[in-house]
Amino acid sequence: MSTPASRLLAALLLALAAGRASAADAPAVSEPQFSSGWRFEQRSGAAIYGALCAACHMPDGRGARGAAAYPALQGNAKLASAPYLLHMIVNGNRAMPGFGSQLSNEQIAAVASHVRQRFASLPTGEPAINPADVQALRPAPQSSSPSTPAASAVAH
Ligand code: HEC
Repeated sequence: MSTPASRLLAALLLALAAGRASAADAPAVSEPQFSSGWRFEQRSGAAIYGALCAACHMPDGRGARGAAAYPALQGNAKLASAPYLLHMIVNGNRAMPGFGSQLSNEQIAAVASHVRQRFASLPTGEPAINPADVQALRPAPQSSSPSTPAASAVAH
């Protein structure tokens, strides 16, 4: 081996080692990062699917087996039920996280419509999912029952 070549090799190894060291200094990220922010910025159903869902359900929707069983969405008969799909996205279930607090009704309607159009063989003319359908699936607010002020007014 010639001297310039071995010097080059040594420099490369040093550069690699330096890269490793600086990577080790960075905060450990043990989970996949879906987005840099707290809320997701993506608007279209396809973009939201790619940013949020594809990590577990795979870009082509065929699902995966790993730490958990990630069911296939491709050809999944349960997608025929819009409320079930919306419930999963809003609230999650077991190993699936809920995205209700991080996505707007519009974003959830967009990704749900995208998933159904792309992966489910729905009868033609199946209506798209609307933001109002999502709102109906959100848990009711705990406080501010509208009957409370009226009840106390009656008591006095
Ligand atoms: C962290 C991994 C993960 C992410 C991200 C994720 N899912 Fe899931 N998903 C799962 C797992 C695990 C299940 C099975 C949950 C169970 O056991 O009920 C599941 C179940 C589902 C189901 C029900 C399937 C069935 O056959 O019952 C639907 C629909 C679904 N996910 C859609 C989505 C959509 C749409 C997104 C993106 C907004 C998404 N998932 C993001 C892991 C994930």
